[in-house]
Amino acid sequence: TLGLKTEKLGRNLHYHDSVESTQKIAYKLAYENAVEGTVVIAEEQTAGRGRMDRKWHSPKYTGIWMSMILRPKIPIPKAPQLTLITAVGVVQAIEAVTGLLPEIKWPNDIMINGKKITGILTELQAESDRIHSVIIGIGINVNSQEEDFPEEIRPIASSLAIETDRMIDREELIRAILEKLEKLYSLYLEKGFLPIKLMWESYAVSIGKQIIARTITGEIKGKATGITEDGVLLIEDSAGELHHIYSADIKIEG
Ligand code: BTN
Repeated sequence: TLGLKTEKLGRNLHYHDSVESTQKIAYKLAYENAVEGTVVIAEEQTAGRGRMDRKWHSPKYTGIWMSMILRPKIPIPKAPQLTLITAVGVVQAIEAVTGLLPEIKWPNDIMINGKKITGILTELQAESDRIHSVIIGIGINVNSQEEDFPEEIRPIASSLAIETDRMIDREELIRAILEKLEKLYSLYLEKGFLPIKLMWESYAVSIGKQIIARTITGEIKGKATGITEDGVLLIEDSAGELHHIYSADIKIEG
Protein backbone atom coordinates (compact mmCIF):
# COMPACT_ATOMS: atom_id res chain seq x y z
CA THR A 1 0.00 0.00 0.00
CA LEU A 2 0.97 3.61 -0.35
CA GLY A 3 0.46 4.57 3.32
CA LEU A 4 -2.02 7.25 2.30
CA LYS A 5 -3.21 9.86 4.75
CA THR A 6 -6.28 10.68 2.67
CA GLU A 7 -9.86 9.92 3.66
CA LYS A 8 -11.35 9.64 0.22
CA LEU A 9 -8.92 9.93 -2.66
CA GLY A 10 -7.17 6.68 -3.45
CA ARG A 11 -8.88 4.71 -0.68
CA ASN A 12 -10.24 2.51 -3.42
CA LEU A 13 -7.15 1.93 -5.53
CA HIS A 14 -6.93 -0.20 -8.66
CA TYR A 15 -3.34 -0.96 -9.55
CA HIS A 16 -2.41 -2.51 -12.90
CA ASP A 17 0.81 -3.54 -14.54
CA SER A 18 -0.23 -2.81 -18.10
CA VAL A 19 -3.48 -1.40 -19.47
CA GLU A 20 -4.67 0.30 -22.64
CA SER A 21 -5.64 3.42 -20.71
CA THR A 22 -6.38 4.05 -17.02
CA GLN A 23 -8.91 6.61 -18.23
CA LYS A 24 -10.88 3.92 -20.01
CA ILE A 25 -10.90 1.69 -16.91
CA ALA A 26 -11.90 4.54 -14.59
CA TYR A 27 -14.64 5.54 -17.01
CA LYS A 28 -16.13 2.07 -16.81
CA LEU A 29 -15.78 1.92 -13.01
CA ALA A 30 -17.50 5.32 -12.73
CA TYR A 31 -20.33 4.07 -14.86
CA GLU A 32 -20.65 1.09 -12.50
CA ASN A 33 -20.94 3.54 -9.58
CA ALA A 34 -17.50 3.03 -8.06
CA VAL A 35 -17.08 5.06 -4.88
CA GLU A 36 -15.96 8.70 -5.18
CA GLY A 37 -12.20 8.98 -4.92
CA THR A 38 -11.54 5.71 -6.75
CA VAL A 39 -8.12 5.82 -8.40
CA VAL A 40 -6.74 3.68 -11.22
CA ILE A 41 -2.96 3.52 -11.66
CA ALA A 42 -0.89 1.60 -14.16
CA GLU A 43 2.82 1.07 -14.75
CA GLU A 44 2.28 1.26 -18.49
CA GLN A 45 -0.42 2.32 -20.94
CA THR A 46 -0.46 0.86 -24.40
CA ALA A 47 -3.06 3.31 -25.69
CA GLY A 48 -2.80 6.35 -23.42
CA ARG A 49 -5.05 9.20 -24.51
CA GLY A 50 -4.33 12.91 -24.56
CA ARG A 51 -6.53 15.90 -25.19
CA MET A 52 -7.91 16.55 -28.64
CA ASP A 53 -7.70 12.88 -29.65
CA ARG A 54 -3.95 12.77 -29.33
CA LYS A 55 -1.90 9.86 -28.05
CA TRP A 56 -0.23 10.04 -24.65
CA HIS A 57 3.06 8.20 -24.64
CA SER A 58 3.19 6.12 -21.41
CA PRO A 59 6.12 3.68 -21.27
CA LYS A 60 6.61 1.27 -18.41
CA TYR A 61 7.92 2.44 -15.01
CA THR A 62 8.83 5.90 -16.26
CA GLY A 63 5.81 7.89 -15.19
CA ILE A 64 2.63 8.24 -13.20
CA TRP A 65 -0.36 7.30 -15.29
CA MET A 66 -3.50 7.60 -13.22
CA SER A 67 -7.20 8.39 -13.38
CA MET A 68 -9.49 9.44 -10.57
CA ILE A 69 -13.26 9.52 -10.12
CA LEU A 70 -14.95 12.54 -8.52
CA ARG A 71 -18.63 13.33 -8.06
CA PRO A 72 -18.97 17.00 -7.19
CA LYS A 73 -22.50 18.36 -7.01
CA ILE A 74 -21.86 21.22 -9.41
CA PRO A 75 -23.52 22.32 -12.67
CA ILE A 76 -21.96 20.89 -15.85
CA PRO A 77 -20.49 24.23 -17.10
CA LYS A 78 -18.37 24.37 -13.94
CA ALA A 79 -16.66 21.04 -14.61
CA PRO A 80 -13.54 22.66 -16.18
CA GLN A 81 -12.77 24.03 -12.72
CA LEU A 82 -11.79 20.50 -11.72
CA THR A 83 -9.01 20.47 -14.31
CA LEU A 84 -7.61 23.65 -12.79
CA ILE A 85 -7.91 22.30 -9.25
CA THR A 86 -6.04 19.19 -10.33
CA ALA A 87 -3.30 21.26 -11.96
CA VAL A 88 -2.83 23.24 -8.72
CA GLY A 89 -2.63 20.03 -6.66
CA VAL A 90 -0.10 18.42 -8.99
CA VAL A 91 2.06 21.57 -9.02
CA GLN A 92 2.04 21.69 -5.22
CA ALA A 93 2.97 18.01 -5.02
CA ILE A 94 5.80 18.35 -7.54
CA GLU A 95 7.12 21.37 -5.61
CA ALA A 96 6.98 19.49 -2.30
CA VAL A 97 8.65 16.32 -3.56
CA THR A 98 11.25 17.69 -6.00
CA GLY A 99 11.80 21.35 -5.07
CA LEU A 100 11.17 22.31 -8.70
CA LEU A 101 8.86 25.26 -9.39
CA PRO A 102 6.50 24.22 -12.18
CA GLU A 103 4.25 26.58 -14.11
CA ILE A 104 0.79 26.00 -15.53
CA LYS A 105 -0.08 26.65 -19.15
CA TRP A 106 -3.83 26.98 -19.56
CA PRO A 107 -5.80 24.84 -19.25
CA ASN A 108 -3.86 21.87 -18.03
CA ASP A 109 -0.23 21.62 -19.02
CA ILE A 110 2.36 21.66 -16.29
CA MET A 111 5.64 23.01 -17.56
CA ILE A 112 9.18 23.21 -16.27
CA ASN A 113 11.73 25.33 -18.16
CA GLY A 114 9.22 25.71 -20.97
CA LYS A 115 8.78 21.96 -21.46
CA LYS A 116 5.74 19.83 -20.72
CA ILE A 117 5.99 17.48 -17.75
CA THR A 118 2.33 16.75 -17.09
CA GLY A 119 -0.95 16.61 -18.94
CA ILE A 120 -4.44 16.45 -17.46
CA LEU A 121 -7.50 15.10 -19.21
CA THR A 122 -10.97 15.65 -17.75
CA GLU A 123 -13.96 13.67 -18.96
CA LEU A 124 -17.56 13.88 -17.87
CA GLN A 125 -20.36 11.41 -17.41
CA ALA A 126 -23.65 13.26 -17.27
CA GLU A 127 -27.07 11.94 -16.37
CA SER A 128 -30.09 14.06 -17.33
CA ASP A 129 -28.22 17.39 -17.21
CA ARG A 130 -26.41 16.56 -13.99
CA ILE A 131 -22.88 15.37 -13.43
CA HIS A 132 -22.74 11.68 -12.61
CA SER A 133 -18.94 11.44 -12.54
CA VAL A 134 -15.90 13.41 -13.52
CA ILE A 135 -12.95 11.29 -14.58
CA ILE A 136 -9.65 13.09 -14.23
CA GLY A 137 -6.62 11.60 -15.93
CA ILE A 138 -3.16 12.70 -14.88
CA GLY A 139 -0.04 11.79 -16.83
CA ILE A 140 3.34 12.79 -15.37
CA ASN A 141 6.72 12.15 -16.95
CA VAL A 142 8.63 11.24 -13.80
CA ASN A 143 11.73 9.18 -14.46
CA SER A 144 11.73 9.24 -18.25
CA GLN A 145 15.02 9.97 -19.96
CA GLU A 146 15.35 11.82 -23.24
CA GLU A 147 15.44 8.55 -25.23
CA ASP A 148 12.12 7.40 -23.72
CA PHE A 149 10.32 10.14 -25.65
CA PRO A 150 9.43 9.76 -29.30
CA GLU A 151 11.72 11.93 -31.43
CA GLU A 152 9.01 14.42 -32.38
CA ILE A 153 8.14 15.40 -28.81
CA ARG A 154 11.71 15.65 -27.47
CA PRO A 155 11.92 19.39 -28.08
CA ILE A 156 8.74 20.07 -26.10
CA ALA A 157 8.65 17.36 -23.41
CA SER A 158 10.68 16.73 -20.30
CA SER A 159 10.55 14.75 -17.06
CA LEU A 160 11.16 15.39 -13.38
CA ALA A 161 14.29 13.22 -13.52
CA ILE A 162 15.71 15.19 -16.43
CA GLU A 163 14.98 18.50 -14.69
CA THR A 164 16.38 17.47 -11.28
CA ASP A 165 19.10 15.12 -12.46
CA ARG A 166 17.95 12.44 -10.05
CA MET A 167 15.40 9.63 -9.87
CA ILE A 168 12.14 10.55 -8.18
CA ASP A 169 10.19 8.21 -5.90
CA ARG A 170 6.92 7.73 -7.78
CA GLU A 171 5.03 6.42 -4.73
CA GLU A 172 5.97 9.48 -2.72
CA LEU A 173 4.74 11.69 -5.53
CA ILE A 174 1.45 9.80 -5.90
CA ARG A 175 0.88 10.14 -2.16
CA ALA A 176 1.63 13.85 -2.26
CA ILE A 177 -0.72 14.39 -5.21
CA LEU A 178 -3.64 12.58 -3.60
CA GLU A 179 -3.11 14.39 -0.29
CA LYS A 180 -2.83 17.86 -1.88
CA LEU A 181 -5.80 17.20 -4.13
CA GLU A 182 -7.97 16.00 -1.29
CA LYS A 183 -7.30 19.24 0.62
CA LEU A 184 -8.00 21.40 -2.43
CA TYR A 185 -11.15 19.47 -3.28
CA SER A 186 -12.60 19.91 0.23
CA LEU A 187 -11.68 23.60 0.14
CA TYR A 188 -13.48 23.84 -3.21
CA LEU A 189 -16.63 22.09 -1.97
CA GLU A 190 -16.70 24.30 1.12
CA LYS A 191 -15.61 27.71 -0.18
CA GLY A 192 -16.12 27.55 -3.94
CA PHE A 193 -13.64 28.11 -6.73
CA LEU A 194 -12.32 31.58 -5.86
CA PRO A 195 -9.48 30.61 -3.46
CA ILE A 196 -8.26 28.00 -5.94
CA LYS A 197 -8.56 30.40 -8.88
CA LEU A 198 -6.11 32.69 -7.05
CA MET A 199 -3.65 29.84 -6.48
CA TRP A 200 -4.01 28.77 -10.12
CA GLU A 201 -3.31 32.30 -11.33
CA SER A 202 -0.17 32.50 -9.21
CA TYR A 203 1.23 29.47 -11.08
CA ALA A 204 -0.01 30.43 -14.54
CA VAL A 205 2.53 31.45 -17.16
CA SER A 206 0.18 32.65 -19.85
CA ILE A 207 -1.71 35.36 -17.98
CA GLY A 208 -0.70 38.88 -18.95
CA LYS A 209 1.19 37.62 -22.03
CA GLN A 210 0.59 37.80 -25.76
CA ILE A 211 -0.66 34.41 -26.85
CA ILE A 212 -2.07 32.57 -29.82
CA ALA A 213 -4.96 30.20 -29.13
CA ARG A 214 -5.59 27.51 -31.72
CA THR A 215 -9.21 26.43 -31.46
CA ILE A 216 -11.10 24.09 -33.76
CA THR A 217 -12.59 27.09 -35.54
CA GLY A 218 -9.36 29.01 -36.03
CA GLU A 219 -6.69 31.11 -34.34
CA ILE A 220 -7.21 33.92 -31.90
CA LYS A 221 -4.33 36.24 -31.10
CA GLY A 222 -4.18 38.65 -28.22
CA LYS A 223 -3.34 39.17 -24.58
CA ALA A 224 -4.45 36.57 -22.05
CA THR A 225 -6.12 38.68 -19.40
CA GLY A 226 -7.23 35.96 -16.98
CA ILE A 227 -9.71 33.17 -16.46
CA THR A 228 -13.38 33.41 -15.59
CA GLU A 229 -15.02 32.00 -12.50
CA ASP A 230 -15.71 28.83 -14.57
CA GLY A 231 -12.12 28.42 -15.73
CA VAL A 232 -12.64 29.83 -19.22
CA LEU A 233 -9.63 31.67 -20.68
CA LEU A 234 -10.09 35.34 -21.62
CA ILE A 235 -8.15 36.86 -24.50
CA GLU A 236 -8.27 40.50 -25.49
CA ASP A 237 -7.39 41.03 -29.15
CA SER A 238 -5.72 44.13 -30.63
CA ALA A 239 -9.14 45.65 -31.37
CA GLY A 240 -9.96 45.41 -27.67
CA GLU A 241 -12.51 42.66 -28.18
CA LEU A 242 -12.74 40.02 -25.45
CA HIS A 243 -12.83 36.33 -26.47
CA HIS A 244 -13.88 33.42 -24.27
CA ILE A 245 -11.76 30.32 -24.97
CA TYR A 246 -13.27 27.00 -23.86
CA SER A 247 -10.87 24.65 -25.56
CA ALA A 248 -7.65 25.34 -27.42
CA ASP A 249 -3.93 24.85 -27.61
CA ILE A 250 -2.10 27.97 -26.66
CA LYS A 251 1.26 29.28 -27.66
CA ILE A 252 2.96 32.05 -25.75
CA GLU A 253 4.58 34.57 -28.09
CA GLY A 254 8.13 35.74 -27.60
C1 BTN B 1 -2.92 15.99 -22.41
O1 BTN B 1 -3.21 15.85 -23.61
O2 BTN B 1 -2.12 16.85 -22.04
C2 BTN B 1 -3.58 15.10 -21.38
C3 BTN B 1 -2.82 13.83 -21.14
C4 BTN B 1 -3.46 12.94 -20.10
C5 BTN B 1 -2.74 11.60 -19.92
C6 BTN B 1 -3.29 10.78 -18.80
S1 BTN B 1 -2.25 9.43 -18.36
C7 BTN B 1 -3.50 8.75 -17.34
C8 BTN B 1 -4.81 8.94 -18.08
N1 BTN B 1 -5.05 7.84 -19.00
C9 BTN B 1 -5.04 8.23 -20.28
O3 BTN B 1 -5.21 7.49 -21.26
N2 BTN B 1 -4.80 9.56 -20.35
C10 BTN B 1 -4.65 10.16 -19.02
